[in-house]
Amino acid sequence: MNETPLLEVKDLYKNFGKFHVLRGVSVKVRKGELAALIGPNGAGKTTFYNVVSGRYKPTRGQIFFEGTDVSGVPSFKLAGMGLLRSFQITNIFPHLTVLENVITPLVIHYRLGFSILSSLKKNVVLREEAEKILDQVGLLSEAHRTASTLAYGDKRMVEIAIVLARKPKLVLLDEPTAGMNPEETDRIILLIKELSRKSGATFFITEHDMKVVFSIAERIFVLNQGARLAEGSPDEIRAHPEVRRAYLGGSLDA
Ligand SMILES: Nc1ncnc2c1ncn2[C@@H]1O[C@H](COP(=O)(O)OP(=O)(O)O)[C@@H](O)[C@H]1O
Ligand SMILES: [Mg+2]
Repeated sequence: MNETPLLEVKDLYKNFGKFHVLRGVSVKVRKGELAALIGPNGAGKTTFYNVVSGRYKPTRGQIFFEGTDVSGVPSFKLAGMGLLRSFQITNIFPHLTVLENVITPLVIHYRLGFSILSSLKKNVVLREEAEKILDQVGLLSEAHRTASTLAYGDKRMVEIAIVLARKPKLVLLDEPTAGMNPEETDRIILLIKELSRKSGATFFITEHDMKVVFSIAERIFVLNQGARLAEGSPDEIRAHPEVRRAYLGGSLDA
């Protein structure tokens, strides 16, 4: 019953000089549940991810990953432990094909070394694994296209495929629908739901669009001005008076 949470953040603070951006945030994410961190612009969502993923050190507080204290552990080490965050397209090699973009992190994961990169095209095992991942994100038909020629939404999908190739236990996605048109938004929502069920990875997303959050999340944490305002199921959050006040009511009924 008392299973160790996949991620447990205890009383997290982050200051930038005199700016107190995170002020005592506590969050627990269980394996397999689709969790979301929401809050108005400037609430501190991205900063929270930057600290949890090891990009910034916490000012105060603790981060546990599978029960291990990883507070202040740098992001490359956390990635090796299975805690990954999507970096939004900047991770994509524009001149490589979609398939090569996914093979590259597999090489890193299996510690094969880059000296064999040139012969990778012949490596059937890696190619098949990369193709399987591309199939999961619906991009198998684009495998041989140069990444830079893809539509914006497809590039975001490649980004997710690259993260999956690292065999993550926990994936932090910061506003996965940002910049997407409504069609792309629907597609990525569906994809995240499906990956959450089938890929073995746990997803923790941030989002400012309430409609997206309520259609996707099983557990929601609400951040407001750097502090946790509420936590609960979508229904509990929808009914929460302070959350309604923070969001001025309107968008919650959409
Ligand atoms: N590196 C930084 N230095 C100073 N202030 C920062 C830094 N990163 C974020 N902030 C500030 O922290 C606040 C929260 O930002 P952010 O985490 O990006 O919010 P959100 O992602 O919820 O929109 C903002 O006021 C922002 O200006
Ligand atoms: Mg942000």
